[in-house]
Amino acid sequence: MTSIAMSAAAATNNHLKPATSITTKTALFPANLSLPSTYTTHKPISITCSSTTLQTPATATTAASSSDRVFNFAAGPATLPENVLLKAQSELYNWNGCGMSVMEMSHRGKEFLSIIQKAESDLRSLLNIPSNYSVLFLQGGATTQFAAIPLNLCKPDDTVDYVVTGSWGDKAFKEAAKYCNPKSIWSGKSDKYTNIPTFEALQQTPDAKYLHICANETIHGVEFKNYPDPANLLIADMSSNFCSKPVDVSKFGVIYAGAQKNVGPSGVTIVIIRSDLIGNAQPSTPVMLDYKIHADNNSLYNTPPCYGIYMCGLVFEDLIAQGGLSEVEKKNVKKAGILYDAIDGSKGFYRCPVEKSVRSMMNVPFTLTKPELEAEFVKEAAKEKMVQLKGHRSVGGMRASIYNAMPLAGVEKLVAFMKDFQARHDATAA
Ligand SMILES: Cc1ncc(COP(=O)(O)O)c(C=O)c1O
Repeated sequence: MTSIAMSAAAATNNHLKPATSITTKTALFPANLSLPSTYTTHKPISITCSSTTLQTPATATTAASSSDRVFNFAAGPATLPENVLLKAQSELYNWNGCGMSVMEMSHRGKEFLSIIQKAESDLRSLLNIPSNYSVLFLQGGATTQFAAIPLNLCKPDDTVDYVVTGSWGDKAFKEAAKYCNPKSIWSGKSDKYTNIPTFEALQQTPDAKYLHICANETIHGVEFKNYPDPANLLIADMSSNFCSKPVDVSKFGVIYAGAQKNVGPSGVTIVIIRSDLIGNAQPSTPVMLDYKIHADNNSLYNTPPCYGIYMCGLVFEDLIAQGGLSEVEKKNVKKAGILYDAIDGSKGFYRCPVEKSVRSMMNVPFTLTKPELEAEFVKEAAKEKMVQLKGHRSVGGMRASIYNAMPLAGVEKLVAFMKDFQARHDATAA
């Protein structure tokens, strides 16, 4: 990592500093939090948490101004809305005056119950989730769902269909083979995953238990623009376009998504499942993968990722405050449009390999005609506080992930940089 990139990363990742490097109070606490003089950070801190000894700061505002932040184009964990981070910061020490951080609360206490219930109800209203669907807040990432889906929805001998539009769909397909008979009914591999099939091209297996798709392939940048009408059940991995636009949930048997792209930190996986599909898990299904266990216990069968769920709740509140997913979609369309226009208008200096009609609104992969300039592009962009633009190691090139929380200003700055970079490196443009 260059020193510039390191300092950029440090600006956003103070918490990752090794403890030995923390010598001042401000490294751990916002400057305006005044701590008792007995608090030092070079020896272990022991805080007795009781209502009489714990002094709650009256206000905790921003420790760093937004000018300290980078535009983070990472594919996930990804950028979060600044106002959400600031709200979380202000509530970190003492949530809602209860004398504890959300991180310290019992998941069965009334405080956390109010947090998870509000998060679920806000998500229900955002996605207009019908009442015959359960919402589960789970752990293990979307990768765990690759196994949980077949384990819960079919028997070992059942056939299921997979449309493989990229690496994630492929991983889901391969994992399912351990628990049932998956058929890959369409694969974009020979075209380097640059396309999505038309529905007519899909030859679904008549007795397949379900049809699995990856709604948005994070690495390859292809996205379903509408959804197939399955002969049976439609199951979608929506990890990287969850809550980026309205979705008709009633079309799906199951929607699942890791939170760490559009709606929160890593550690939370959201499953939205039609209730009648719950309760048929294969007998060998681990308890943690059985949807019935989680549904019967309102996602509190074991200790859930409490802080992550709280953060998702703040993001849901923010999305509602923005006017809901139709408004969010408008912003995403605009951002993606600006970026793709810049690529297409570069006279071939930049190229996006994906077929235009299925280009992702969230993950924009692009290459340079001169690949030897790609490392320079990424390095220079980082100097300008635009980080994580390197493409996935399996495909190379560049990738700009422009999830909900990426401001328009971030995309505009990237486009301006791309034009400037081209002007400096494209001999034919002179
Ligand atoms: C579309 C998609 N599905 C699944 C995954 C795997 O998610 P996790 O790392 O949370 O298991 C990812 C991760 O980036 C993804 O982008």
